Amino acid sequence: METTTVISFKQQIKQGIPNELPSIKTYETTINHAPKRKEILSDEEKKLALRNALRYFKPEQHEVLAKEFLTELNDYGRIYMYRFRPDYEMRARPIKEYPGKCKQAKAIMLMIQNNLDYAVAQHPHELITYGGNGAVFSNWAQYLLTMKYLSEMTDKQTLVMYSGHPMGLFPSHKDAPRVVVTNGMMIPNYSKQDDWEKFNALGVTQYGQMTAGSYMYIGPQGIVHGTTITVLNAFRKIGKEPQGNLFVTSGLGGMSGAQPKAGNIAGCVTVCAEVNPKITQVRLDQGWIDEKITDLDELVTRVNQAKENKETVSIAFLGNIVDVWEKFDQENVHIDLGSDQTSLHNPWAGGYYPADISFEDANEMMANEPELFKEKVQETLRRHAKAINQHTAKGTYFFDYGNAFLLEASRAGADVMSENPTIGKEFKYPSYVQDIMGPMCFDYGFGPFRWVCASGKPEDLAKTDAIACKVLEKLKKESPEEIQQQMTDNIQWIKGAQENKLVVGSQARILYADAEGRMKIAKAFNKAIKKGKIGTVVLGRDHHDVSGTDSPYRETSNIYDGSRFTADMAIHNVIGDSFRGATWVSIHNGGGVGWGEVINGGFGMVLDGSKDAGRRLESMLFWDVNNGIARRNWARNEGAIFAIERAMKSEPSLKVTVPNLVDDKLLANL
Ligand SMILES: NC(=O)c1ccc[n+]([C@@H]2O[C@H](COP(=O)([O-])OP(=O)(O)OC[C@H]3O[C@@H](n4cnc5c(N)ncnc54)[C@H](O)[C@@H]3O)[C@@H](O)[C@H]2O)c1
Repeated sequence: METTTVISFKQQIKQGIPNELPSIKTYETTINHAPKRKEILSDEEKKLALRNALRYFKPEQHEVLAKEFLTELNDYGRIYMYRFRPDYEMRARPIKEYPGKCKQAKAIMLMIQNNLDYAVAQHPHELITYGGNGAVFSNWAQYLLTMKYLSEMTDKQTLVMYSGHPMGLFPSHKDAPRVVVTNGMMIPNYSKQDDWEKFNALGVTQYGQMTAGSYMYIGPQGIVHGTTITVLNAFRKIGKEPQGNLFVTSGLGGMSGAQPKAGNIAGCVTVCAEVNPKITQVRLDQGWIDEKITDLDELVTRVNQAKENKETVSIAFLGNIVDVWEKFDQENVHIDLGSDQTSLHNPWAGGYYPADISFEDANEMMANEPELFKEKVQETLRRHAKAINQHTAKGTYFFDYGNAFLLEASRAGADVMSENPTIGKEFKYPSYVQDIMGPMCFDYGFGPFRWVCASGKPEDLAKTDAIACKVLEKLKKESPEEIQQQMTDNIQWIKGAQENKLVVGSQARILYADAEGRMKIAKAFNKAIKKGKIGTVVLGRDHHDVSGTDSPYRETSNIYDGSRFTADMAIHNVIGDSFRGATWVSIHNGGGVGWGEVINGGFGMVLDGSKDAGRRLESMLFWDVNNGIARRNWARNEGAIFAIERAMKSEPSLKVTVPNLVDDKLLANL
């Protein structure tokens, strides 16, 4: 009689890569899979990819695995090692359920599992969290080995992660980060889009996006708040109420799926186009959109009715966004706000779908006729921009939403360049950071601070919401006029957070706060943990923040001194965070706008109620925000000059170089 040994979750984590080959997994068609990546490797390079993959396994298993991995490489363009996908449910467990010797390592395991949770991740079997190619790991062996290392780690060791590959545990000390992550760090000349295809297929690097490869993704909630702030402020900018007015955009993916929810929180009519039927259904089931429409005429009728009745409603159009822009132009449906969140950071591998081709045919073409696919994408981008231009001529306010839309449209020869360009304002339309997020938030230090209650208890999250709200209400009373609006918006957000049911995956919350707010909230959490009122809390933030990201067409697009093409700020940030007490740090190439286009970093910090945690949070959070404010101030950004002067007053040991402003008339006369 055959016996199967059932081993517990903890034992499976501790075992890492199993000694015996697990049985082959069937390819599940019910879940969302990464598109087939294009053929990029030569036959010799394929052998190198196999040699690289087989390094993780015992030689006696190589014969079986070599054949299997070659099939994966030929069928999917990558070696994912599907067979090694664990059988246990992939989700963040309460921290006490993880095996290990150190709380910090257990918290990191929880965060990794959350990034791969089926309810959270975009392509969970390919270890992709969001953005089409935002990877936590490149294959399942890396996952298994990393979890094993974390289960063995003490608080005097640091795990070194090279683009998904766990290089190993190295001796360090208790104040050092437990994990240091790099993703996609390349010699600069090897950072083109096809370099990612090739070196990722070889298994030596990966695209970590932002919070995918740094284990800090908290589902679409992470972006809902930022998107709500953007939509609200965009309406304020055009002097209109959201009620009865129309916001048109696209993408219901990992991040873009937040747009209709944000539109509902703001109170407008939102139309969001999405070509992928599975993703559209997921968002409908999750309640992130209210209605789905597949016919353009029906869409026009419904939108006109919703505008007329001033309904707060979000409508998904299952189809191509270009068709929506064109149809609304023909039918004279006025669009108040327009944007786009297709994944144009990844235009040739499933980030942007061409018009007039079915979703399935487009996926085939992408893999089998990549040159033709590229032509079709560029043709669609030209049409897309043309239709937007028709609308903006009629008064629509269009902004680039940090997805490289204007950049890729310009590369496709679309009509998006300004007729009167100035340095930093070369496009016809602003990015949301230039007009909204930069001057209103980042320059003052406000950014997407977040936390996760590691107990997994919703009650803990509710208690942390209440603590954060109390801190903000107190701070608001002492805040200067310049940041009153931010404080009010954030208090309103945290008060409505429970009601808006934003949790998908771990018990997480996001909140825009400045350095002072982040430090005071974190301190109050640490105190509550010490008193036993709540369990362990993991702090973090999106990389899309004040200091973490150098990205000339997004986070640093409102830097006009020419330095937006440098990456000193992001690099300094991660180095500074690592020696000031972060529990883990990460630095990535790519993220948001694409491989080679941005350098971005993040951190995680475990609060356990200890004195050490109290010391670390003050030191690190102060730096983590004020580094970016100092740089934005040096770039002569008004809000940042104000904010850094304020920070220097509150902390006398902070001494920052402040710019002298030059009279424009002087230069004009030269
Ligand atoms: N502004 C921000 O704050 C911000 C934040 C995160 C991400 N982004 C950027 O936004 C983009 C989207 O991110 P994501 O994580 O949602 O990516 P995603 O790949 O998960 O989602 C994009 C969606 O767009 C759909 N799509 C592609 N082409 C389409 C078309 N022509 N018509 C209709 N739908 C189409 C895809 O099917 C996909 O579901 C990325 O480039 C990302 O970097 C911006």
